[in-house]
Amino acid sequence: MKGVILAGGAGTRLYPLTIVTSKQLLPVYDKPMIFYPLSTLMLGGIRDILIITTPEDNESFRRLLGDGSAFGLRLRYAVQQSPRGLAEAFLIGADFIGDDACAMILGDNIFYGNNFSRMLKDACENAEDNGHATVFGYYVKDPERFGIMTFDEQGNVTSVEEKPAEPRSNYAVTGLYFYPKGVSEMARRVEPSGRGELEITSLNEMYLNEGRLDACIFGRGFAWLDTGTIESLIDAAEFVKMVEERQGIKISAPEEIAYRNGWIDKQMLLSSAERYGRSPYGEHLKAVAEGRYYSNIK
Ligand code: TTP
Repeated sequence: MKGVILAGGAGTRLYPLTIVTSKQLLPVYDKPMIFYPLSTLMLGGIRDILIITTPEDNESFRRLLGDGSAFGLRLRYAVQQSPRGLAEAFLIGADFIGDDACAMILGDNIFYGNNFSRMLKDACENAEDNGHATVFGYYVKDPERFGIMTFDEQGNVTSVEEKPAEPRSNYAVTGLYFYPKGVSEMARRVEPSGRGELEITSLNEMYLNEGRLDACIFGRGFAWLDTGTIESLIDAAEFVKMVEERQGIKISAPEEIAYRNGWIDKQMLLSSAERYGRSPYGEHLKAVAEGRYYSNIK
């Protein structure tokens, strides 16, 4: 199973914050935004990950994350010349993906909630063993802003539609997608939309037409946050702060997930802790290495 993080885009809604840096490198409370989608793929057990960025920002991501060994990962990097749409990730990543199933997550999407790791692992299995794609639905109050899906009574997806003026449901398709092998060939058949983008919704529609699109719905206790506007960025930071302070833990710390997954050893975790010095994040990694936290990540 491969994973792709799409972390390009212009970030115009965050100007001037994103004039000289990538949105996905901005802080969300105590860590760079990309740590959250990276953690999501890792919770699903994915270790081969391609990070797609703008040409200008690629070097900064490499400086932050390196070859991935500190996270027990094999990281690769690629560039998207301009924001031509989400489905272009599978064209840019075609060689990297090869003949494997592949998950894709948007670099500005944050997920947090109960049973999430299980859902991710199920979606991996659904792609690898059943040849089906999985998308994740979330009930929202403003569906016209999103890709939307409808269901029949058995919970089967009956339609997907990109930002409809008159939405037929409140279920948004979140920025996390799992596809079986062959996704790059499928993406080659996507035609640019009216707004000139290679739409992920068009790709999802192809799987739907072949009877190979499944949906998993997040319940009301689940948090799906996007961080594309100033308001949502601050809200996301507040959310992370609240959960971390209340429980005295860190959420979405990739080195901690790697350690609990058995991908890095204690020594490696302690070297990462040292890299971050006396910051709360560094102190947290040190505490995890010394066994001062309970483990519930599996
Ligand atoms: P958006 O929030 O739709 O776009 P953006 O990040 O360029 O921001 P703005 O609208 O403020 O200009 O993108 C969602 C995510 O997908 C974000 O993480 C950037 C990424 N993205 C790409 O990497 N390439 C693309 O072609 C598109 C459309 C988005």
